[in-house]
Amino acid sequence: MKSYMIRTKTAEQSRIVCREGVLRTALPRLLSEYREVFFFSDRTVWELYGRKVGRAYRESPVHIMPAGEAYKTPETLLKLLGAMAEAQLHRGACLVALGGGVVGDVGGLAAALYMRGIDCIQIPTTLLAQVDSSVGGKTAVDFAGVKNLIGAFRQPKVVLADPTFFATLPPREVRCGLGEIVKHGALSAPIFETLWENRDRLTDGDFLAAIVPENIAFKAEIVRQDADEKGLRKCLNLGHTTAHAFELSDGKLSHGEYVLAGIIFEAELAKKYAGGDAAYLDDLQTLCRAALGGMPQLPPAREAARLALLDKKNVAKDEIVVTAPVRKGEYALLSLNYETYVTELERIQQSLAQAE
Ligand code: NAD
Ligand code: GLY
Repeated sequence: MKSYMIRTKTAEQSRIVCREGVLRTALPRLLSEYREVFFFSDRTVWELYGRKVGRAYRESPVHIMPAGEAYKTPETLLKLLGAMAEAQLHRGACLVALGGGVVGDVGGLAAALYMRGIDCIQIPTTLLAQVDSSVGGKTAVDFAGVKNLIGAFRQPKVVLADPTFFATLPPREVRCGLGEIVKHGALSAPIFETLWENRDRLTDGDFLAAIVPENIAFKAEIVRQDADEKGLRKCLNLGHTTAHAFELSDGKLSHGEYVLAGIIFEAELAKKYAGGDAAYLDDLQTLCRAALGGMPQLPPAREAARLALLDKKNVAKDEIVVTAPVRKGEYALLSLNYETYVTELERIQQSLAQAE
């Protein structure tokens, strides 16, 4: 069994247990400590797993949201809080969030808000949720057209990560999780080595199950050092400036696919502007293409680049900041004048198209 404890500088603690079958063994024991348990999930996940996970808790109330990012809204949050109030939960209750990152983020925020905070157990069911969103206590809903605008930092009491859930994940959701895993690889030399050695079987179920613990441990260590994102945790934005720009521009791919594309572009920027190790960055780009299953169609770079101006990491008007990979296990904050960024993105897009 892989088990990690995040002890943040505040009083909050979070335990993450990662193992096949962990729900069967650990969940009943954990929930026996609570007089009130409330389940939250989305329709797709509940239809697949609700009966199995909730079997022992038939008396416990359940609230189900529709699946998808479009429902990660204040309305969904308020409906959930309403259902919790209707169930007359007390402060000693526990909310169990069973699902992907959307359920985890909404459920985590509801648990943070209800009576100023009740316990939350996260059961992440997507690859992305296991290696990234369930770890670290970021909770949120989207608002006013901005992703994660309303949120809170609050560590879950426990995260139970079971690779059995991957059996039903659509291939696009696997690629989505691989985006964040390759990002971890760009920040950690040992993870990069593992991914590089296995680049021809990145979507293989056994391989995915095997790399989840290392990825959880990597993120948990960053969160342990900087839970409220004052410094180090910002490295997790690697590839994300350009990823968000393309994502906001057309939104046809999954977030993780945009992250993989963002890493490809930002690795190219690093070769020219950050003295990056070209041979290593070529390999990283190859890894991204392997995870993507080929280079996807992206919207025109000029249009996308304009949206990068909205990025929270920018420090001045007309300046774009990217967290770029430079050498194995190393990244750099790269600040580019907007016109340079646009010109470079267009150049990179053209050279990628010619290479296809
Ligand atoms: P998601 O929760 O929308 O899940 C993707 C789809 O897969 C949904 O339709 C869901 O119903 C379905 N699904 C979930 N588990 C399944 C399973 N085992 N089998 C079959 N289908 C399944 O998306 P996601 O990619 O898990 O999470 C994305 C969200 O996570 C975004 O809102 C993003 O902002 C957030 N996020 C948060 C953090 C954080 O630190 N809190 C980090 C990264 C991403
Ligand atoms: N997903 C980025 C973070 O948790 O900080």
